[in-house]
Amino acid sequence: MNQVVILAGGHGSRMKSAIPKPMLEVLDVPMLGWVIRACEKADLRRICVITGYKSQYIELYLNDKYSTALQSERLGTGHAVMQAVPFLKEEILGNTLVLCGDAPFMDSETIEQARRLHEAQDNAVTVITAKLENPYGYGRILRNETGITAIVEEKDATDAQRKITEVNSGAYWFKTSDLIELLGGLSQSNVQGEYYLTDTVGLAISNGKKAGAYLSENNDVILGANTRKDLLHLNEIARQKVLDKHMENGVNFVCTDGIIIGTDVEIGAETTILPGTILKGNTKIGSRSKIGPNCIIENCIVGEHVNLNYVQAYDSMIEDNVKIGPFVHIRPNSHIRSGVKIGDFVEVKNSVIGEQTAIAHLTYVGDSDVGKKVNFGCGTVTVNYDGMKKNRCEIGDNCFIGCNTNLIAPVKLGKGVYTAAGTTVTKNVPDYALAVERADLKMKEGYSLKKLKGKIDKE
Ligand code: UD1
Ligand code: CA
Repeated sequence: MNQVVILAGGHGSRMKSAIPKPMLEVLDVPMLGWVIRACEKADLRRICVITGYKSQYIELYLNDKYSTALQSERLGTGHAVMQAVPFLKEEILGNTLVLCGDAPFMDSETIEQARRLHEAQDNAVTVITAKLENPYGYGRILRNETGITAIVEEKDATDAQRKITEVNSGAYWFKTSDLIELLGGLSQSNVQGEYYLTDTVGLAISNGKKAGAYLSENNDVILGANTRKDLLHLNEIARQKVLDKHMENGVNFVCTDGIIIGTDVEIGAETTILPGTILKGNTKIGSRSKIGPNCIIENCIVGEHVNLNYVQAYDSMIEDNVKIGPFVHIRPNSHIRSGVKIGDFVEVKNSVIGEQTAIAHLTYVGDSDVGKKVNFGCGTVTVNYDGMKKNRCEIGDNCFIGCNTNLIAPVKLGKGVYTAAGTTVTKNVPDYALAVERADLKMKEGYSLKKLKGKIDKE
């Protein structure tokens, strides 16, 4: 069976990061996650991740789905792969792909095509390479008439070798049994005093084995990040790729400023995304909707013909023909049914809002089940928290909630209930009743004239 070793021991000291470098995100996925996805897409599911710096972060992320091996001392890429030898020995037949956990754009097509070449040539090792205008810092590919002969690192190279533009991507296919044998032959005799995985190429040839190189057409496969500036560059590339994909699918952008769309987001044709909009996680948006400006939508299902303007919505469902905004917060586990209108300064949390209900302004609806065609007056509050626990409110179809109503949960309003403005509802209200809770209004004639003597202009 074919398997994968991913090198992810990097610290990323130049990033000044408290977490391992491969855990830093490009769009909304850690770089390591990009690499794992490329493997999964190429149908490679036996994976060992080599950890080092703060390995617990990577273990938490992998969540027991894949194996790890700890490299407790950082002695080079060859030494890193040595830590996977017990893993490799469990499955000695077949090939092993070695990848860098901080090169997120390695793709499944490149992996597959390199494997085909590797198998067709019956190589012990096949290096994935790319040609760069500026090859500085990368290992250079040395060739003679018969093919690749060795890889030489920047620091170990002669001036003539440094002019070579074909570079090592840091990704390789090995015949697993040959890899184990070649790792045993590595030494630290180089400028950096490290066990270089790259030395396996020269070593294979001197041991009478075959080595090959697969030149990738996609130069992005070699891109990694050593600095925050590099990371921003990777994000810019990824962002544009995602935008291009959506435009091919018929999504409309008038201006892409501040628009960041996660890798897994799906958007229907003829939907317009306006500036400042961030779409994250497993978000799906239907067609002919208008999202933005300035929305954050994370893990939400949004229907067709929906209009979200200055909305933040998380882990919720918003059905067709809904209009929300501006300045609205839809908190997790909310279900906004079709035809609902929610206006400015409204917060909804863990609630169902029935079809065609209107919540026009300055209202909090939390832990509530709201029926159809309810009208919320300005300043309604579902008082869901008694200081100890959260309670639910139930509001029947066609209720008309007066302005500044407090609904003290748990409480139930039947169908078609009216509440008078300013009412605090502490008891269940039967169908079609009016709940009014008000002290008598008293008048004190001439009060302000006495109080503000001389300050008020008399007519
Ligand atoms: C390596 C290659 C170089 C190639 C380049 C591509 C070697 C000797 N050189 O160089 O030919 O062009 O990648 O980016 O392999 N790592 C560990 N443990 C270690 C050392 C490294 O896990 O002891 C991991 C790093 O975290 C990283 C990967 O291996 O994910 C590559 O290491 P890095 O130091 O970036 O390699 P380079 O010197 O850039
Ligand atoms: Ca190095």
